[in-house]
Amino acid sequence: MTRRIPAGERGAIDEAARILGASGLVAFPTETVYGLGADATNGAAIAKLYAAKGRPAFNPLIAHVRDIAAARALARFDAAAEKLGQSFWPGPLTLVLPKAPACPVADLATAGLDTIAVRVPSHDIARALIAALGRPVVAPSANRSGHVSPTTADHVLADLAGQIDLVLDGGPAPVGVESTIVACLDDGPTLLRSGGVPRESIERDLGRAVSEAPQPGQRNDDEAMLAPGMLASHYAPRARLRLDAREVKPGEALLAFGPDLPPGAPQAARVLNLSARRDVVEAAANLFSHLRALDRSGAHAIAVMPIPHEGLGEAINDRLARAAAPRE
Ligand code: TXA
Ligand code: MG
Repeated sequence: MTRRIPAGERGAIDEAARILGASGLVAFPTETVYGLGADATNGAAIAKLYAAKGRPAFNPLIAHVRDIAAARALARFDAAAEKLGQSFWPGPLTLVLPKAPACPVADLATAGLDTIAVRVPSHDIARALIAALGRPVVAPSANRSGHVSPTTADHVLADLAGQIDLVLDGGPAPVGVESTIVACLDDGPTLLRSGGVPRESIERDLGRAVSEAPQPGQRNDDEAMLAPGMLASHYAPRARLRLDAREVKPGEALLAFGPDLPPGAPQAARVLNLSARRDVVEAAANLFSHLRALDRSGAHAIAVMPIPHEGLGEAINDRLARAAAPRE
C-alpha cells in the first residue's frame, strides 16, 4: 500500500525520513518534478527503487544534497563546476562530475560509472527531507521508466501506486521540467540535458558557449555513455505526437501554445493550452500535466503547435521531440 500525506502536515517530513532510513521509497516534490527518493548510501534501497520504476540498472541516478559543501563530499569540482554551483544552487541544475574517492553513494546508484550526478534542490520540502535524513537522497523522476515525469502527487500515484511506501503531497512542482544537466569533466562543460535553467543563463554565467549532447534521433554510443537516460523515446505518452502542427486533423487532440488556435481546433478531441499568453515558463510548468491529460482523452494522436526555442522553450522542445520519437 502506498500512503499519501500532505507535506505540510505535522510530522510528515520526519515520517518520510524514517521510511528512507529503513530502506523505504518516498516520492517527494522538487521545484522541477516529483522525485522517487531512496537513501543514496543504501544499495538495497536503490535496488528496490530500480525495480519500482522498471528502470534498467545501467541508468544512473542523481544524488540530491543540501548544499555545495555536501556536494563536495561526493564529487570533484573544477572551476566551471564551482562557478555553476555557486550561481545556480539551490535550483534546477544537475552537475555530472568525477566521483570523489570517499564518495559514500552506493555504486548501484552511479551504475558503476566513475562520475556522479549531483544536485541541490531549492524546494522547501525536498530540502527538509534531505536535512531530516542527514544523508544524500538519490531520486529519479517518480514515474515508470519511459513515461513522462510527474508534476503532481496524482501523477506519481497513477504510475507507482502499490510500488512505493509514501508520497509527500506538496502540490504541483513549480518549474515543471527536469533539471538542466551539465557535465564538467575533462573536455569542458557539456550540456547533457536541457532543463529548468536555460542554456543562455549557463553560458552567460561561464562567459563561454557550452558544447551540446547530440539531439534526439541522433543518439550515438558516446551519448549512451555520457547520459545513459537520454534515450530518444524516453518521454512517451501512448498517443502519437505530431510536432509543429499548423492544423488539427480529424480525431487528434491539440496541445496549443499562444492565443491563436489553428484550423480544425474546434473539432479536436480535446484542446489544452500550454500558455495562452505565450509564456514559455508557464508552458514548462503545464507540459507534463497537459500531455498526460490529452493522452487520457483517448485521441490516437496529439497535434502540438510550434513552441519558440528560447529560454525554457529549449527544454520543452527537447521533451516533445523525445515523446514524438519512434518507440525503441
Ligand atoms: O529535475 C530532475 O533532475 C529530477 C528531480 C527529481 O531531481 N530528476 C531526474 O532524474 O530527472 P532522472 O533519473 O529521471 O534523470 C537523470 C538523468 C538520466 O538521464 C541519467 O542517465 C542522467 O541523469 N545521469 C545520472 N547520472 C549520470 C552520470 N554520472 N553521467 C551521465 N548522466 C547521468
Ligand atoms: Mg526521468
